[in-house]
Amino acid sequence: MPSHLNHPDELLERNRAWAARMVEEDADFFARLSAQQAPQFLWIGCSDSRVPANQVTDLAPGEVFVHRNVANVVSHGDLNCLSVMQFAVEVLKVRHIIVCGHYGCGGVHAVLTGARVGLVDNWLRHVGDVAQQHATLLAACPEGERLAALCELNVIEQRLNVCQSTVVQDAWSRGQPLSVHAWIYGLGDGRLRALGPGVKGLDAVEPAHAEALLGVRQRHVPA
Ligand code: CO
Repeated sequence: MPSHLNHPDELLERNRAWAARMVEEDADFFARLSAQQAPQFLWIGCSDSRVPANQVTDLAPGEVFVHRNVANVVSHGDLNCLSVMQFAVEVLKVRHIIVCGHYGCGGVHAVLTGARVGLVDNWLRHVGDVAQQHATLLAACPEGERLAALCELNVIEQRLNVCQSTVVQDAWSRGQPLSVHAWIYGLGDGRLRALGPGVKGLDAVEPAHAEALLGVRQRHVPA
């Protein structure tokens, strides 16, 4: 669906109207926000334009710290994502990290079909690793379920990567309250769903991971 907006001037105009509306509702809104940000949440999501963190969670500016990349990948070698996590956890002291994927993800689809897109194929290799790791489960899914299953598996594995990062491991060993969640968004109904419980500490990582994987099997593999 092409956007009806096609000129950047229209965005500047919409921004003027939005800022005026915000001030009308709350005169000190921007003054307060410019003094400090204190979000409770870090969102790690897909770059897909249809899954904007603030809008789908109905959060105002200042309430969620955001990192997005193609297919919501958390790679231990990605200095960008790791820096976002470190700043969010150690400086902002967020209470929750949410890794959020979405059904119908183009990046995950490209992996599943083996399509060549370009440079991004190298990035998507991380999702390819997830597919390879869960090849047996994916093969047991009916063809029509496979994309949804891999979208879920990818979120679950990326959440594990967050839990295994030095940033999160150090936070937990300091006793800092921090939960890590695996969520998925439905483009078709606008709903967010949790893929099992959040992980609140080191001991919960493995059980939560196993429970989430079991959920994928129960939803997508015929009994
Ligand atoms: Co996507």
